[in-house]
Amino acid sequence: MISQLVLLTAVVAALPGPKPVIGGITSSLQSILKNTHNSKDYGYPTDITRDLLPIPVHSHNDYWRERPFYTGLSKGCSSTEADVWLYNGTLYVGHDQSALTPERTLQSLYINPILDILERQNPTSAFITSPTKNGVWDTAPEQTLYFFIDVKTSGRETFQAVIEALEPLREKGYLSTVRDGKNLTNGPITIIGTGDTPLDMVAPVLDRDYFFDAPLANLNDPIYAAIDGLVSPVASTDFEQAVGKLTVDTDPILNDDQLRALRDQIATAKKRGIGARYWNTPYWPVRQRNLVWRTLLREGVFLLNADDLDAVIAEF
Ligand SMILES: *[C@@H]1O[C@H](CO)[C@@H](O)[C@H](O)[C@H]1NC(C)=O
Ligand SMILES: *[C@@H]1O[C@H](CO)[C@@H](O)[C@H](O)[C@H]1NC(C)=O
Repeated sequence: MISQLVLLTAVVAALPGPKPVIGGITSSLQSILKNTHNSKDYGYPTDITRDLLPIPVHSHNDYWRERPFYTGLSKGCSSTEADVWLYNGTLYVGHDQSALTPERTLQSLYINPILDILERQNPTSAFITSPTKNGVWDTAPEQTLYFFIDVKTSGRETFQAVIEALEPLREKGYLSTVRDGKNLTNGPITIIGTGDTPLDMVAPVLDRDYFFDAPLANLNDPIYAAIDGLVSPVASTDFEQAVGKLTVDTDPILNDDQLRALRDQIATAKKRGIGARYWNTPYWPVRQRNLVWRTLLREGVFLLNADDLDAVIAEF
């Protein structure tokens, strides 16, 4: 190694003209780099998510972000959510009624953008001999995107409208499906009804392309006892209610009872093929928030719930 370096240094020293710089770029190379900008030679159909690695993070209150869906996508979040309100047959998206506008609908903020990305990830060309079902991630086309739809207005009518609104994704075969109550096929998008989604509109349906967000801390209650990953690929609960209020912001962040509760809940879910997600984890102080995230990852949660996406990325 040393002798090679000495040799290289000797060769470089012997070269006429200015010495090469590692990572340096000549003006003619700079000019080429600049001018490839819009050339077709340097783009490819599925490159929109080229540099992104999906991370097991749920973009909490995603519809509040500057660019719903796209912001979470740009950070690599493999899960997103929308609160939906049904008025006159249209599903509007927003945290509460005062946040609703005629333009912000499930279709405009989520269904259309998701469809657009998936059409880019599944191009047709002379090179493709059979249709693809790539997910949104160019780096991980098998990775599904979890999409939690939080039903805010009356459960039955609203969830029925959600099922119908999914038609453009269904038609293209982009949804994860269950057939015959037992065969799960993972598609690019996995729809999970939450909020007021009625369990009986999901669990007993043998052929469907939507799932149910079961209550993680109550999986052993009689009404949830039969639920498995075919009904609830992910179950969620309020962290503070299910695990307890935190009293310290130092490691270990959980006391023995809290850690035992957490492990019980995650293990109960895992045994049934269900992934765990906790919401209402602390966001302040930052040190406490981060210790909770690390503890949850170490203990095997399936999705981390996060508001500050840049901060959560630093944990991976
Ligand atoms: C729903 O329709 C009724 C009757 O046309 C109308 O008065 C009302 O403003 C509509 N509500 C919304 C939220 O569009
Ligand atoms: C379900 O999967 C099993 C095993 O892979 C297969 O034999 C069966 O045909 C599938 N059923 C349906 C309805 O796709």
